[in-house]
Amino acid sequence: MREKMLVLLNKIINRMFIIFIISIIPCTVFSEEKSVDFIETNWSFKGLFGTFDRASLQRGYQVYTEVCAGCHSVQHLSYRNLSEKGGPEFSIEEAKAIAAQFDVEDGPNSDGEMFMRPGRLSDKFVSPYPNVEASTAANGGAYPPDMSVLAKARKGGADYLYSLLLGYDEAPEGFELDDGVYYNKYMPGNKIKMSEPIIEGIVEYSDGTNPTKEQVAKDITTFLVWASEPHLESQHRMGFKTIIYLIILITLVYMSKQRVWSRFGSNAKEEKEEETFDKIERAVTEYEGENPKTFK
Ligand code: HEC
Repeated sequence: MREKMLVLLNKIINRMFIIFIISIIPCTVFSEEKSVDFIETNWSFKGLFGTFDRASLQRGYQVYTEVCAGCHSVQHLSYRNLSEKGGPEFSIEEAKAIAAQFDVEDGPNSDGEMFMRPGRLSDKFVSPYPNVEASTAANGGAYPPDMSVLAKARKGGADYLYSLLLGYDEAPEGFELDDGVYYNKYMPGNKIKMSEPIIEGIVEYSDGTNPTKEQVAKDITTFLVWASEPHLESQHRMGFKTIIYLIILITLVYMSKQRVWSRFGSNAKEEKEEETFDKIERAVTEYEGENPKTFK
């Protein structure tokens, strides 16, 4: 009875180990949410081994400064971030030159006055408007959201942003649109107070890439995903290491469990062997009792 219980318990623990291992791997490897409604494209940064496409990030930065920065801020980014590992990886010199193109307010000086100076690596990205009220007033009552965490804040993330940028269309018949409001297939409610920001040939890429609408939308989206997760690549590396660590740990725990439990198994075996031995002994003594001469 006791032996049966132990065997059953052992089986249950074995199954639990297997279920745990089978469930943990897909959970971590394929954790990305899939949204079917959005326009499909391949993102290099998705998945466990995902990394950003450097050239795409650099082009995305170009799109941001030349197009989106007219209305949208990215307050969390500093010019220094542009040269950091895991980002667009401009050289320090390039990042310094980029920063120097912007005028930054500093001060007060010894006369107690604020003054303007060229940007430095440590400066935050310069915002197009001094405050939310000013940006809302300048955009007909709609606030162009800060882009620091936009890719994270919207359901669908990169796929949503990409689709939104390519989702401008003629409004279906009977769909009422006020002045300054546009029809967009992917905006909740299909009404957006931003005119189509990406049109054919809006930028001329310095690396010679053909600036089709899809290409520009992809590059700026990649840039915005990085802006909201500048450490994504190191997180992916860490995630991978954690999985390896977990697998090794589980294997070790499993092996030590097998070892501990094997004692119960061998005990049962020994008991059985002893029983058989006793039986043989008894049989031999009986035989001896009946035929005493045979053994002399
Ligand atoms: C002329 C100003 C202007 C420019 C240029 C502009 N936007 Fe906008 N953007 C807005 C305004 C205003 C809103 C708010 C729209 C609303 O709430 O209906 C907005 C909203 C957005 C949203 C948020 C949609 C949502 O889910 O709420 C995204 C994403 C966006 N813009 C991306 C971009 C990108 C990318 C660029 C550059 C390629 C860009 N915008 C250029 C004014 C602008």
